[in-house]
Amino acid sequence: MEIYLDANATTPVLAQARTAALEAMAGDFGNPSSTHSTGLKARALMDAVRLRARRVMGAPTGQLLFLSGATEGIQTAVLSALSALRTRRQAGDAAPALLLHGATEHKAVPEALKHWNALLGLDFQVLAIPVDRDAATTWTGCAPTRRAPDWSARWRPTMRPAS
Ligand SMILES: Cc1ncc(COP(=O)(O)O)c(C=O)c1O
Repeated sequence: MEIYLDANATTPVLAQARTAALEAMAGDFGNPSSTHSTGLKARALMDAVRLRARRVMGAPTGQLLFLSGATEGIQTAVLSALSALRTRRQAGDAAPALLLHGATEHKAVPEALKHWNALLGLDFQVLAIPVDRDAATTWTGCAPTRRAPDWSARWRPTMRPAS
């Protein structure tokens, strides 16, 4: 018997979701941005799905994005957050000097942080928050390998640079 334990990467698709997706691909395959009838039909389906997703998630306002997977979601979140930080910094606001992420995050997180940090010219320090043996983030038990910035001294962190 095979036991599948990699549900973080992919999970079996819920039967109802698979049926709905196949129906949409067969009957409502149009481009929802198109103004012909096939596109309008796809648009109506998408709008209805968006409405239901908002209800299920309890998110009546704000932007709701449908993305292809976790990496795209991480890229979108990191780029949005860092762009906002850049805007704050350009406006003269005090912006943080550190980008912190949990050491056990999927590598897409630190890689996205480092990539957009460099590309946007932010030059923040990217640090991984260590985790303990129970995988809970912790500041203790790890020797500092860099001088901690002033603002973080009040937490007495012991951090190591992201690899
Ligand atoms: C925790 C975690 N985040 C992100 C990803 C990347 O996901 P995707 O392949 O959907 O881009 C994975 C994939 O295994 C993951 O396990």
